[in-house]
Amino acid sequence: MSKNSLSITDNRTGKIYEVPIENETINTKYLREIKINPTDLGLLTYDPAFVNTSICKSTITYIDGDNGILEHCGYPIEELAEQSTFLETAYLILHRQLPTKNELDKWINDITLHTFIHENVKKLMEGFRYDAHPMGMFVSTLAALSTFYPEAKLIFDEELRRKQILRLIGKVPTVAAFAYRHTKGMPYVYPDNDLSFVGNYLNMMFKIAELRYKPHPVLEKALDILFILHIDHEQNCSTTAMRVVGSSHADPFSAAAAAAAALYGPLHGGANEAVLTMLDQIGSINNIPQFIKTVKDGKGKLMGFGHRVYKNYDPRARIIKKLADQVFDITGRNPKLEIALELERIALQDEYFIKRKLYPNVDFYSGLIYKAMGFPTDFFPVLFAIPRTAGWISHWQEMILDPEQKIARPRQIYLGSQKRKYTPISRRG
Ligand code: CMC
Repeated sequence: MSKNSLSITDNRTGKIYEVPIENETINTKYLREIKINPTDLGLLTYDPAFVNTSICKSTITYIDGDNGILEHCGYPIEELAEQSTFLETAYLILHRQLPTKNELDKWINDITLHTFIHENVKKLMEGFRYDAHPMGMFVSTLAALSTFYPEAKLIFDEELRRKQILRLIGKVPTVAAFAYRHTKGMPYVYPDNDLSFVGNYLNMMFKIAELRYKPHPVLEKALDILFILHIDHEQNCSTTAMRVVGSSHADPFSAAAAAAAALYGPLHGGANEAVLTMLDQIGSINNIPQFIKTVKDGKGKLMGFGHRVYKNYDPRARIIKKLADQVFDITGRNPKLEIALELERIALQDEYFIKRKLYPNVDFYSGLIYKAMGFPTDFFPVLFAIPRTAGWISHWQEMILDPEQKIARPRQIYLGSQKRKYTPISRRG
């Protein structure tokens, strides 16, 4: 019997099964051999919300949640945030290697050539209500992009796949900025391809009457770092949505729209918006103890705290907390920062949060920076979606090229009614 295996005794039959252990994991296909009768389906696993299930083998992102470690292709997030740029990190997670100077120049040039969107996409966006949530516009417009690039369906054509990757990364800032301008009733600003990826994005968001928009270098750098911090986080809810939808061989725009929809929720990318709403509701430091009591009584959550994988301080939150000071030096201090700092201090000493290993996550401080930079609260999830698109598309490509992957199709445990006879409506009580 191999040492790298698990012996399972089925007490119903007395049979012993040996299941290989590979990468600290067992493949559930072996459980299907555990059955009473030869015609039985075999044993299934029950894992709502995939709490203990690996859905793929990946070489993109490594997280050690107990020790608060995050690495992309082996590079610690702290080093990437300090020394890399968003587009370079996007190249890294797609190619698994840092680019040479020439490769990076070409990559930046290629992305920059795809920043414009079709005029009809603009017209489509004009059709949204004046008060439409920017994330709703973002999700719908991503899906609509698939109708402009029908060749995106040819997902196994390497050249075409690369083109859609460039298009997605290049166009999401434009779609996002147009969504913002729409809610403000301001004319859309076309991309300025002489600016950096982030500089151009700020230009499309905030340019008013100046001939040439000049982003503030500190804010441009800060947003670039925030984009690096949000680029990927392995099998989170939205990335899983991207993989699941992509597994049916839908085109990458449709799959990315599904991923963005998953990101929209307040338990995921909508949490940064929810944090600001929560800080508004708390209103003042004096109200924090009462608020914490409400959370502990199970009447709400401390938004921006807790994580499925991190049972320690989220390393991204640590970097963002430092970044906040640099941004506030330019923009002025956000008064809600005091509430957030005190909230964190109290929560980290409280038995409820200690016992459950609840620490600040990436969303706890990011919203305060976004707010200080002039982004409205309902826009925060979109700011998460722009960089995460690079993560989604990296996972999508990895999944498409993985010979072990198939259409995602989980099982269920049926607990409904047994077979019964249909009753005509006239005879129903
Ligand atoms: N405030 C208060 N209690 C919490 C919180 C919180 N933020 N998060 C978890 N708990 C409690 C939860 O009630 C449960 O308590 P009990 O054992 O008494 O039932 C325990 O901690 C375990 O939580 P869980 O719900 O089983 O954990 P999960 O892995 O299913 O959920 C989470 C992870 C991120 C959805 C959750 O922590 C949460 O809702 N946090 C607030 C929303 C948030 O900040 N989301 C952003 C996540 S980071 C960025 C991203 O991935 O998008």
